[in-house]
Amino acid sequence: MNKPLESGLGGTHFIRIDPQRCEFLVPRWAFTDQAVLDKEREEIFGRCWLYVGHASEIPKAGDFVARKVGGRQLFLWRGEDGVPRVYFNTCTHRGAMVCREKQGNAKRLTCPYHGWTFDTRGGMVEQPGASGFPDDFFANGAKDLISPAKVEAYRDFVFVNFDPNAVDLTTYLAGAAEYLDLVADQGELGMEVTPGEQVYSMRANWKLLYENSADGYHAITAHASYFDYLRATVGVFREDFDPHDVGGGGKSLGNGHAVIEYQAPWGRPVAQWVPQWGESGRAEIARVKAELSARLGEQRADRIANWNRNILIFPNLIINDIMGLTIRSFQPVTPGYLEVSAVSLAPRGEHPEMRAWRQYNFNEFLGPAGFATPDDVEMLELCQQAYQNMPEVGWNDISKGMNRPDANQGDDEVQMRSFWIRWDELMGAAR
Ligand code: FES
Ligand SMILES: [Fe+2]
Repeated sequence: MNKPLESGLGGTHFIRIDPQRCEFLVPRWAFTDQAVLDKEREEIFGRCWLYVGHASEIPKAGDFVARKVGGRQLFLWRGEDGVPRVYFNTCTHRGAMVCREKQGNAKRLTCPYHGWTFDTRGGMVEQPGASGFPDDFFANGAKDLISPAKVEAYRDFVFVNFDPNAVDLTTYLAGAAEYLDLVADQGELGMEVTPGEQVYSMRANWKLLYENSADGYHAITAHASYFDYLRATVGVFREDFDPHDVGGGGKSLGNGHAVIEYQAPWGRPVAQWVPQWGESGRAEIARVKAELSARLGEQRADRIANWNRNILIFPNLIINDIMGLTIRSFQPVTPGYLEVSAVSLAPRGEHPEMRAWRQYNFNEFLGPAGFATPDDVEMLELCQQAYQNMPEVGWNDISKGMNRPDANQGDDEVQMRSFWIRWDELMGAAR
């Protein structure tokens, strides 16, 4: 992809920034070019910390979940010593996938091809037909399962990095760690991923979904039907909600991470009541709010309860702390096709009524058959299809809010610009 372009940053960059005009442009071939995806696999997915799963998904010794991450097949396996570990899901003999189920529990996994058997520490502990190998052939872990170069967790969010020279996870997360804390602190007894996963795909480039996941600007138009529905069902929104002042705004959190924070009319199981939930729901929300205040102080409880946030963790992890709490990650398959995984995160021990509303909200808005996701899929696929109009119409505009002297508003595009600046830096390293 030898297409460096002039930019306001000086030197050659793929993006084009004109500070005088307050204009920020991204070339559309970044969404369509196979060479770009090849470089992204090397420079971004090969070097950044990538989310694998949440430790609560493997609560017991021997529990495992298999995941596709950054173009690799991995699995997360809790050891008999209680430690969660990540392995490449490939036998060290001839390569077959050792972990064939999406999730399960096993003290040992036996490769289906020739029967090599591995324990939860990855050790190759047994195989039929030991004759034909020297006695010490398997010594010193020579044929054990292999782990990614780095595996670390932050507040139970488990990440891997394929680059042995990568910075540690907390350094990488930079300002995003504060937002993961706001999520992880919601449960008195900690947080857990609830059973079930939404898996879907779309005919769009992965970067379009990253942008879309914290795009406040499109909600009023693309999701008009959801707001009509809220008006009709919830009736009166939260009593103190002012639709003309949702406050907050967007900001860059460093290393390409970003967030938008705002107030919104929908109910939040942590902890904003709406009339739809009735008097029992009101009492439970009051209890949740009081618990948050007692444990974390009034100010932090208010921030957690009354503010929504869409957190973007570069390159492909989104945490939507909105009417539910979802962990969304996605993997490019081709430049024009991506696979998505979304799960619901909830406080452990949550009241069943609130848990039911949480899951209802998640399905209703964010589910692949909900109000928002089909709208978004359609919008992103419309973008992707129209990129066929290159080279005559070659640039995307991501300028909204550049003319504001200070903080960006929630419907500005600073969060996408912070992604693209980091993307450009990493891709530039390849030149
Ligand atoms: S490929 Fe796994 S035992 Fe042969
Ligand atoms: Fe949307």
